[in-house]
Amino acid sequence: MAALPEGDSAPSDGRLPNVGNLKNKPFSLYVHVPYCSKRCGYCDFNTYTPSELERDDQIDRWLQSAIKETIFARKILGEELTVDTIFFGGGTPSLLEASVVKEFLNSVSKHFTLKKDLEITLEANPDTITQSKAEDWRKAGINRISLGMQSSAKNVLQVLDRTHNPANVLTSVEILKKAGFENFSLDLIYGTPGESLEDWSNTLKDAIAINPPHISAYSLVIEPGTKMGSQLSRGEIKAVSDDDAADKYQLAEVMLTENGYLWYEISNWAKENKECQHNLNYWKGNNWWGIGPGAHSHINGVRWWNKKLPKNWRESLDQDQSPALARENLTNEQIRNEEVMLLSRLKTGIDKADFDQKNVEKLIKDKLVNEVSGKLELTLEGRLLADVVFRQLTA
Ligand SMILES: C[S@@+](CC[C@H](N)C(=O)[O-])C[C@H]1O[C@@H](n2cnc3c(N)ncnc32)[C@H](O)[C@@H]1O
Ligand code: SF4
Repeated sequence: MAALPEGDSAPSDGRLPNVGNLKNKPFSLYVHVPYCSKRCGYCDFNTYTPSELERDDQIDRWLQSAIKETIFARKILGEELTVDTIFFGGGTPSLLEASVVKEFLNSVSKHFTLKKDLEITLEANPDTITQSKAEDWRKAGINRISLGMQSSAKNVLQVLDRTHNPANVLTSVEILKKAGFENFSLDLIYGTPGESLEDWSNTLKDAIAINPPHISAYSLVIEPGTKMGSQLSRGEIKAVSDDDAADKYQLAEVMLTENGYLWYEISNWAKENKECQHNLNYWKGNNWWGIGPGAHSHINGVRWWNKKLPKNWRESLDQDQSPALARENLTNEQIRNEEVMLLSRLKTGIDKADFDQKNVEKLIKDKLVNEVSGKLELTLEGRLLADVVFRQLTA
């Protein structure tokens, strides 16, 4: 599992040094649901299968502690904030019963003000959706689903060790549409070992044919310590080359643009006004509280992350203590660097005037960025070399 940064120790009372003026910035809640029926071969997210957890920390015990953390957050933030977006991420949040989602959201609405028509997303695995569950999620207030389609090639899903098959995606989408979910994303992965350009092209074609308002496409990262990481080190699978990944990214850009999807962040495309508001809040450096085991939070330059094991997270909350494992007070330089890294990945770009103009001119000459009304916007080539652009901007 990915190691967390070390950070400083987090005070057990959870007090924050600078909670003034919180109302000036959008505020989001991230809600981590760390349970999966089976771990996919490539995944190193903070998630657990039933056999890895004791009875007291199975999914049916999550709600109690999640509500406790909501109340704890309200106490630490000191004022009743307006929540702009909520995102249930995982793990597999679609394993939650709709009654649990409803009770959790009720508790949030008791301690926070919910913005009118706020976006509430739930990540779902295609083999966990039933008609009645989908209808009840919708009634509970979920209004956006992020569906982990990944690929429509059976061989690719097999290498990824997913539990679903391509037919599950079509059935889920039908169910979701029938339940009234107009807003949903299909989440894709490219660059799986053994995936041909044709497999990827078919995946894009199949995703586009479903006509979702939003599509994300992330390049597969194979981390050491995962099942695929071990297969890689034993030589049983071969990582794809940078050129293969670049070809697939460019194919995605061409096919998605031709079909009315516009990129708004390097790995995300949407129809007009269908961008994910929650992720935009992260990328714009706004404030958010992450509820759940291992969840990260950011409030006015302080970043912290919770204890990863559900047991440790629950026990802290049972004692009315902060479930944070550690935290960092970001320096102005760190805040600025993160801002440059995140904002430069967005289509809306970053102010040209804020950088050394010699560096900017070189990036323009190398065709990595364009100047558009005083902003620097990544070109397609720049999107493939975003790290280079970032390093040069901050050199
Ligand atoms: C952590 S999952 C949670 C949602 C859901 N369980 C699913 O798998 O779709 C969120 C997204 O992260 C992607 N993801 C997880 N590990 C990844 C990796 N190593 N490389 C690229 N994407 C990854 C998943 O494929 C999924 O689309
Ligand atoms: S279903 Fe999603 S969260 Fe669970 S193991 Fe697979 S990729 Fe990770």
